[in-house]
Amino acid sequence: MSSPSTGATDDYSTTEHFITAAVFIGIYVSIFVYVWRVRSQIQSSKDVCPDSQFSTLTMDKFLDDMEREKPIRFTSQQLWIATDNFANLLGSGGFGAVYKGMFSNGTMVAVKVLYGSSDKRIEEQFMAEVSTIGRVHHFNLVRLYGFCFEQNLRALVYEYMENGSLDKFLFGEDKKLGFQQLRSIAVGTAKGIAYLHEECQHRIIHYDIKPGNVLLDAKFLPKVADFGLAKLCNRENTHVTMTGGRGTPGYAAPELWAPFAVTHKCDVYSFGMLLFEIIGKRRNLARNVPESQEWFPTWVWKMVETGNSVELMMVCGFEDKDKDKIERMMKTALWCVQHRPESRPSMSIVVKMLEGALEIPTPPNPFPAYLMESNVVPNNNNISSSTTWNDTSLL
Ligand SMILES: Nc1ncnc2c1ncn2[C@@H]1O[C@H](COP(=O)(O)OP(=O)(O)O)[C@@H](O)[C@H]1O
Ligand SMILES: [Mg+2]
Repeated sequence: MSSPSTGATDDYSTTEHFITAAVFIGIYVSIFVYVWRVRSQIQSSKDVCPDSQFSTLTMDKFLDDMEREKPIRFTSQQLWIATDNFANLLGSGGFGAVYKGMFSNGTMVAVKVLYGSSDKRIEEQFMAEVSTIGRVHHFNLVRLYGFCFEQNLRALVYEYMENGSLDKFLFGEDKKLGFQQLRSIAVGTAKGIAYLHEECQHRIIHYDIKPGNVLLDAKFLPKVADFGLAKLCNRENTHVTMTGGRGTPGYAAPELWAPFAVTHKCDVYSFGMLLFEIIGKRRNLARNVPESQEWFPTWVWKMVETGNSVELMMVCGFEDKDKDKIERMMKTALWCVQHRPESRPSMSIVVKMLEGALEIPTPPNPFPAYLMESNVVPNNNNISSSTTWNDTSLL
């Protein structure tokens, strides 16, 4: 016969066993889930980062840096590989030779290998370019992806521009660019320079605006290149006194060749000279043309002064429907090359002039008397030669 107390004890021990078993099962399941999770985490991390994909990660970092708009430091070996041992020469200028290259992710680049007789010269050029272009991003300015600074190789790595430089299409055999395309190249170039002058944290003077430094992408959209001569110039300190000659003859402003204060207006002058060449699709100075047309800018001045551009329109092959736009471009160019820097407009005004957002007064004669024929009397149309453009009145 079983006593009631014994039954209660049995019940108690059954419950105890049940709880103990449940705790064990719980612990077992938790351990199982934990181990399963850790294993699957290890497996998934293996999926993302196997050793074999290390180079992909390097490329990801490269793309990250590109996205963060920070110039990347390349090794000379990376550039040897990207350019296939510098096999494809795109061209060369005063400071180096430019080679076509491609990174393993398909990014096309132009690698400018710097040369020079003295290390100091190379270093100055190098530091100027890296610190200026590396800070600047605008649709109409060539991007600097990175650089290499090693004893055996000092190079700058730029975005690749499929159609090369504008001079080829203005002066070479291939004159396929129509008036509308050339006009938008002029506007885009002006916007790029305006950004350097007016929108960067520190004003950047280019010093070498010329057709060879306007590069064209696959769609012939223009980007200003080659900040090799650019210097960072604090906005407050608008005047930089130059110690040596700069720029390219034919484009360099008069103040660059004289011991006078140089400002960003020297780029406006060079842009004006470039604009004449865009209008004429010829070099400003030509020998195989009638004498009166030899120097294109003075010929343009005569057309604007007399208000009769028929001859120029014919010689340059312009259509009548574009007459207003061409006259606008001619007047803008004449304003840009005014002898006195303060008479030249700012580049943002130049953009407005070209785009038609601003009425352009007839410019005064920008050229010294020795460039003009003696029978030509400049008609300044009430615009005094001391006219100054107020940079703050962007209208
Ligand atoms: N980013 C680029 N993409 C494509 N071609 C380029 C690039 N940079 C330069 N080039 C080519 O290399 C040539 C030489 O350039 P550069 O050394 O800057 O000399 P310069 O400006 O005096 O002509 C240019 O005329 C152009 O045809
Ligand atoms: Mg250049």
